[in-house]
Amino acid sequence: MIYNKDFMGDHPLVKQLITYDETDSTNVRAKELISQGVGNGTLILADRQTQGRGRMGRSFSSPAGDGIYMSLILTPPLAPEKCSMLTLIAALSACRALDSVSGLHTQIKWPNDIICEGKKLVGILTEYIPVQERDYVVIGVGMNINNREFPAELKKAGSLFSLTGKAYDREVIILHMWTDFCERYNAFLKTGDLSVFRQEYEDRLIHMNREVFLIPTERTAAAGSAEEASLEGLAPVYCTGISANGALVCKNPDGSEFSVSAGEISLRY
Ligand code: BTN
Repeated sequence: MIYNKDFMGDHPLVKQLITYDETDSTNVRAKELISQGVGNGTLILADRQTQGRGRMGRSFSSPAGDGIYMSLILTPPLAPEKCSMLTLIAALSACRALDSVSGLHTQIKWPNDIICEGKKLVGILTEYIPVQERDYVVIGVGMNINNREFPAELKKAGSLFSLTGKAYDREVIILHMWTDFCERYNAFLKTGDLSVFRQEYEDRLIHMNREVFLIPTERTAAAGSAEEASLEGLAPVYCTGISANGALVCKNPDGSEFSVSAGEISLRY
């Protein structure tokens, strides 16, 4: 057994752990398990994914032993449009977990890529799944932890190992992440917005008070990534933070402010 069956102990949020040595995608597993009646607080964990999925139809490299590939099933008592904010909360928890074990200072590329020293360490794919009488959210988190090498095409990928030269216990990081997330989740359910996390999030925002290019999602998807997308016809804007509902707030050169939601654009800084 690669993961210890009961390493989450008696956790206040993660009530059930389902582990796989290998699966296609923990998000896909989560959706299938939901249809079979598995519910709130179930964490699906795989040592390896054969078809790890990223945002905008991309794949997520998921070799055995190196990374953390997991999906948490939640049934938040929230309006559907509020569920995307869980992604930003998960990003903060991922940062905290990685920083606490490694001593690094991780940052966030809005909305939910975790970056350190120019390398992407974590990706998060949150999916909203309406099912007849109850709405589910699956928070899929992929973390590069002990990876020593990456496929050549992943020029921007890094791991805790590649940055610190040390190997880490994945169970410790997972426990840390969801314990931190649990506290934030309870606070979020009370306010229904990100107001209490906004400052902390902006402090971690890598392009805060910097010029950014807002790239239409279709252009990013066609190019494969925001880094490869053409910037033709796009003028930079100035990032001034996030709104209480997690939208990116930017300023035009004429000083007028506007906000964009995560589905509309991807970003290059
Ligand atoms: C991204 O960077 O575009 C998001 C990547 C999300 C990857 C995780 S790994 C666990 C879960 N299962 C998946 O297939 N995807 C997410």
